[in-house]
Formats: sequence, C-alpha cells, structure tokens
Amino acid sequence: MGFPMIRHRRLRANASLRRLVCQTKLSVDNFVYPLFTCPGKNVKTPIASMAGCFHFSADRIAEEAVEVASLGIPAVLIFGLPEHKDSLGSQAYIEDSTVCQTIRQIKKAVPELLVFTDVCLCAYTDHGHCGVIKDGRIDNDPSLELLAKMALAHAKAGADMVAPSDMMDGRVGKIRIMLDGAGFTETAIMSYAAKYASAYYGPFREAAHSTPGQGDRKSYQMDPGNSNEAIGEMKLDIEEGADILMVKPALPYLDIICRGAQTFDVPMAAYNVSGEYMMIQAAAEQGLIDRDAVMMETLTSIKRAGADILITYFAKDAARILKA
Ligand code: PBG
Ligand code: ZN
Repeated sequence: MGFPMIRHRRLRANASLRRLVCQTKLSVDNFVYPLFTCPGKNVKTPIASMAGCFHFSADRIAEEAVEVASLGIPAVLIFGLPEHKDSLGSQAYIEDSTVCQTIRQIKKAVPELLVFTDVCLCAYTDHGHCGVIKDGRIDNDPSLELLAKMALAHAKAGADMVAPSDMMDGRVGKIRIMLDGAGFTETAIMSYAAKYASAYYGPFREAAHSTPGQGDRKSYQMDPGNSNEAIGEMKLDIEEGADILMVKPALPYLDIICRGAQTFDVPMAAYNVSGEYMMIQAAAEQGLIDRDAVMMETLTSIKRAGADILITYFAKDAARILKA
C-alpha cells in the first residue's frame, strides 16, 4: 500500500495533531547550565568570547543560582579559575578553591539546585594541559591521583556530582575509589566518556584561560573520525563506576550520542559546547537566523539523537521559552 492511501500530511494538518504525535519534547528538567567562577570579590564580568556568559566570584554566585533555579533548571556545572597556575595545578585540589567556595555559596542559597563540578587540571596548570607533564608527555597515572583529590575536595564542599573531563585512562575508577574511601558513596560521577579533540572548544578556552601552551590535546581526547572507540570508552567508564555518560561536543557527534544511548542503559548526557553555542549567537547577531528558533531546533535534535541530559549555555533562554 502506498500513495494515495498513505498520506503523511494527514497528521501534520494542524497544531493539535502535531502536538499529539510529536516524539521529542524539550523539558527544562533535562537542562544543565554551565557557570564560570573566578577568584576575587564582587566580580561579575562578561566573558568576551561567550556572549551572554559571565565570570562570577564566589560571593556573587548566589544571585545567579537563585535565577537559574527559579527558571526550573535542576543543575549547574561549575568551572573554576585559580589565583595562580603551576605545573601540577595545585589550586585545583585545595579545599578552599574558588570552586569549593562557590559550591558552598550555592548550597547555602539554593540547597535544591544540584551542583555538578568539572574535574580537570587544564585551567590550573601553567602549561594548560589536562594532566601533568613528564619528559614532554602527558603522564597518565600520576595525573589520576590529582584528579581524584580534586573530585574529593568538591565532594567535601557539597558537590552532588563530579564530572571528570580530562580523558586520562582510569580516572573514573580512581575517583570512585577515592570518594568511597572518604565516605562519599552518594556523590555521583558524570564522565565525559567520549570527549573529542574538537576545535569547537575555542571560545571556552578563552573563558577558562586553558589553551595548551604547547601542542594539542590529541594524545588524550578522541579522534573525530572514531566511533567504535567511543563505545569502548563508555563501556570502561561504566565498569569503573560512572553513573552518567557524556558525549562532547554534541552536534558534530549526534551519531555517537545515538549509538551510546542505544548500547548502554545509564543516562546519556550531551554537551552543546561553546563553539556550537557561539556559531548560533554570531549568526543571529548578524541577522542571518532566528536565534530562538535555531536554538530550540538544535536542542531538540540533541535530545532526539538520544541525549537524556542537555548541558547548554542556552539553558536559561530555552527555559524561558518553555515556560512562556
Ligand atoms: C576542560 C574542558 C573543556 C571544555 C569543558 N571542559 C575544554 C577543553 O577540553 O579544551 C569545553 C567546553 C566548551 O567548549 O563549552 N577539560
Ligand atoms: Zn582539561
């Protein structure tokens, strides 16, 4: 049977029918909003490379957290900056880091807002790499200890979930053991399981001052041409104790999100990264596209691909549209 008995336009005829049969609906319940914190007092400065995003000092974060929560967004993901950088990224794992202060401030102001933290050394090392360097190479195993200490400091400060983004081998397991050993059995791990060596992180690296001084991240982040390897990364992270998996970036890797979601039973997150965000902001700024429509279509596509959780700088704007 085919045309004229079958007519696909029948179910597209009006808004009520379209609403009835729509398979993918965005919900604020699945949004995570990234926040950037910096040292200092009374700081709220726009991030030049990321229109609409700000650096907040810990004492100014509460007002933002209140706004995020009032929009119904359940979680924030915190990125921090240190006062000083050094070769071992020492300020990443001190118990009074900017991130730890920020976690405490948010939990005091809005206890129900979930606080996730990025766990990585690149914003804290003077060389800008995500692990420590030995003989000119990123040294995997010594980096694990530092990353796990960083995760533990965040957990002690009250983080609900830690999100390792470094792509060292074995970091999820090391973090799980360190957290459990200190009694933080309830602190969850969202692993950046399939994180690609992407050029889409450009605007973020300016915000986090984390561009590697020398070389690139290709010896630890994944090659954009690979798909099977992403499945291997995800499988291992689950075995090591990851509660949620993430694919990053989102749009150029929708096939990876789809494959991961069909293969594994843990929740799948996708990170719609800074470059993806700014391409839309910049095109809208030039009057080339309808920003809100492109934003909603983009987020829908990521969810349709299989992402349960959307990490996006659009979270507040999309939440406002969903609320209206
Ligand atoms: C650090 C980190 C990066 C991002 C999140 N955590 C950058 C990188 O790996 O170079 C990118 C986020 C974005 O572009 O929005 N490990
Ligand atoms: Zn990093």
